[in-house]
Amino acid sequence: MAGGGAQGDAVGGALSAVVVPLTAMHAEGVLEIYRAGIEEGNATFETSPPSWEVFDAVKLPEHRFAALDEAGAVLGWVAASRVSGRCAYAGVVEHSVYVHPAARGRGVASALLKALIDSTEAAGIWTIQSGVFPENTASLAVHERAGFRAIGTRERIGRHHGVWRDVVLIERRSPSII
Ligand SMILES: CC(C)(COP(=O)(O)OP(=O)(O)OC[C@H]1O[C@@H](n2cnc3c(N)ncnc32)[C@H](O)[C@@H]1OP(=O)(O)O)[C@@H](O)C(=O)NCCC(=O)NCCS
Repeated sequence: MAGGGAQGDAVGGALSAVVVPLTAMHAEGVLEIYRAGIEEGNATFETSPPSWEVFDAVKLPEHRFAALDEAGAVLGWVAASRVSGRCAYAGVVEHSVYVHPAARGRGVASALLKALIDSTEAAGIWTIQSGVFPENTASLAVHERAGFRAIGTRERIGRHHGVWRDVVLIERRSPSII
């Protein structure tokens, strides 16, 4: 796991980690974890991670976070992008969350999603959405626990390594932005 500074909100429970704003200093660890998730085959249609420059350009700087261990190594990350340039959707973002295979099941994704929910709500963003492969039961469970609901399943919406895949659309509508 690649290193970075560790100053931020402590993650509760048994996990010893902090959640900090994701910056260029976390690039190596973030992209390594992205690659590991992609290679497992149920995280995304993408077949390789982007360069740091592309990642940095599309992910909203104020709505991306890294979870770090005590040594400053990246355990996981969450980031959001705008879904549309239209005014009506100004408060709608799409996110991704990835946790290092060795750091799963310890609440890292939950802590990252909490940071994203807090930052987006504070900025007036009312909906966070994502698409999840139905086979990705861990992601569906994590998101349900974080207050996301499944809207429905888009059937054979895209091809992944030549195979048509379904995607479950999920969203969390903020109850505090009315
Ligand atoms: C999905 C992913 C982000 C979950 O990260 P994580 O840090 O292990 O999740 P957490 O430990 O925060 O789990 C939160 C809750 O989700 C549930 N959960 C997590 N993994 C689960 C699994 N494999 N099966 C069932 N439920 C699971 C648990 O109920 C847990 O609640 P608990 O605290 O009561 O135990 C991680 O598996 C991952 O990085 N996968 C590859 C990338 C990916 O698929 N990203 C999502 C793309 S949509």
